[in-house]
Amino acid sequence: MNSQEIRKAFLDFFQSKSHHIVSSSSIVVKNDPTLLFTNAGMNQFKDIFLGNVEKPYNRAADTQKCLRVSGKHNDLEEVGHDTYHHTMFEMLGNWSFGDYFKKEAIAYAWELLTEVYKIDKNILYVTYFGGDEKENLAADEEAHQYWKQYCEESHILPGNKHDNFWEMGEIGPCGACSEIHIDLRSDEEKQQICGADLVNKDNPLVIEIWNLVFMEFNRKADKTLEPLKEKNIDTGMGFERLCMVLQGKKSNYDTDVFQPLIQNIATLSNNVYGEDAKKDIAMRVCADHLRAVSFAIADGLMPSNNKAGYVIRRILRRAVRYGYTFLAFNEPFMYALVDTLVEQMGEQFPELQKNHGLIVKVIKEEESAFLKTLAGGIQKFDKYIKDNPIGKINGGFAFELFDTYGFPIDLTCLMAKEQGREVDMEAFEENLKRQKERSKNAATIKAGDWVEIVENFKDENFVGYDEYECQCHIVRYRQVETKGQALFQIVLDATPMYAEMGGQVGDQGVLINGEEKHVKKLMRLTILNVEVVVEYILYYGKKMKIIML
Ligand code: GLY
Repeated sequence: MNSQEIRKAFLDFFQSKSHHIVSSSSIVVKNDPTLLFTNAGMNQFKDIFLGNVEKPYNRAADTQKCLRVSGKHNDLEEVGHDTYHHTMFEMLGNWSFGDYFKKEAIAYAWELLTEVYKIDKNILYVTYFGGDEKENLAADEEAHQYWKQYCEESHILPGNKHDNFWEMGEIGPCGACSEIHIDLRSDEEKQQICGADLVNKDNPLVIEIWNLVFMEFNRKADKTLEPLKEKNIDTGMGFERLCMVLQGKKSNYDTDVFQPLIQNIATLSNNVYGEDAKKDIAMRVCADHLRAVSFAIADGLMPSNNKAGYVIRRILRRAVRYGYTFLAFNEPFMYALVDTLVEQMGEQFPELQKNHGLIVKVIKEEESAFLKTLAGGIQKFDKYIKDNPIGKINGGFAFELFDTYGFPIDLTCLMAKEQGREVDMEAFEENLKRQKERSKNAATIKAGDWVEIVENFKDENFVGYDEYECQCHIVRYRQVETKGQALFQIVLDATPMYAEMGGQVGDQGVLINGEEKHVKKLMRLTILNVEVVVEYILYYGKKMKIIML
């Protein structure tokens, strides 16, 4: 099966089980301060799980563009060095919103893997949550019993909270989970060590392919677990890993998902993939990072010096430096790979086709700009290593590379690691902190739980196509900490203002409550950052007016 057939078989299977097939949501998260990028298929359904919105269907399935490069789920360091982690990847998922639960989720997963994809059940291992005393959670004996209908007991393993209790982030929906792992080693290797002993042990050929989450709690900001109104299912299967399994490969990069990009890089750099370990890593990094950056730009995110935009800049710069150091690219090259990506994936993800020209242009400009300082920075780094052959890399020096040469700190750390060295991160952070204090530009956001004022509020009313002002009420609010100060965010039931999108600046407006006026920038359609909202909370229920400036 080629990758398109594999994806289609997944969606067709769940459609045949009465699931509503939905599109992937944006890879860039625009309306959740706890998350910069979509890190799991369930993100777009978070509000359904939390009961904040009415569910449009009881069952859904999709393939979701995900990016795991920051926050709780971050795979960046492994990318390219191993064969099965990625920054951007597709997550195949099926969901039940208060409909079926463990029994059916397990039955569907097993049927799809063993009967549709025809994977030999003897190479599959499954795990279930073994309980956690501190959380006061018992072992998931229910899942254990269901698995017994399909697997030998020796292929069913209890797991700890780290592996078998899945959480979206620091706060949000969560629950015990069962992972399905596959053992792709040779018979000889299997005889030496049993697959069960290698589950969750970072063996590149004994890997997790699917996670079935039995979503029944909400992790609150105070760390307690609150039961959700309904019991739900949230599953996530790594598409690229599945392709590796079904195409009989030992590396995700050897599948038809990555090979066209890798071969393109090999040709452009005049190399052959598979001949030199360092060059192979560089080719894998570039292929992986090209996907991450292109998908993010297609979803409206531009490389920048802030938050999500900086993550994308960092990823692109990392790839450019790998290309420069290991593949001898000293001219822009990443942009030249975009055509291949669009040809490969544009049908499933039309946003790539639609923004093809923009992606090429933005990547080329970014590459050109970084290449202007890259050589100088590398020379400086090499000289530093020569002059200071032992000990940690000075944090002030790492900061200079960051500030003057545009080297993201993880790039400097990576270069240090290649020399068997470490960066003095404490000193780097100190320098950075001082700079941030100077520019008052701290970028972290901490968010508390939403407080509902109007219960069961469904959809905001966007009147901005016809009106510049309207009456509104606060429907919910929460406290966030950003740029070193505590703010409140409020959600209104109506607004004329359009949010910040795709590099556009969000509309600004005045919120009027009696004699009081507040001018603030919008974060999204109806969420406003407001410094002093306490009065508004006191006034809740009263009508206010919002006017666009
Ligand atoms: N939400 C399931 C997973 O990401 O593994």
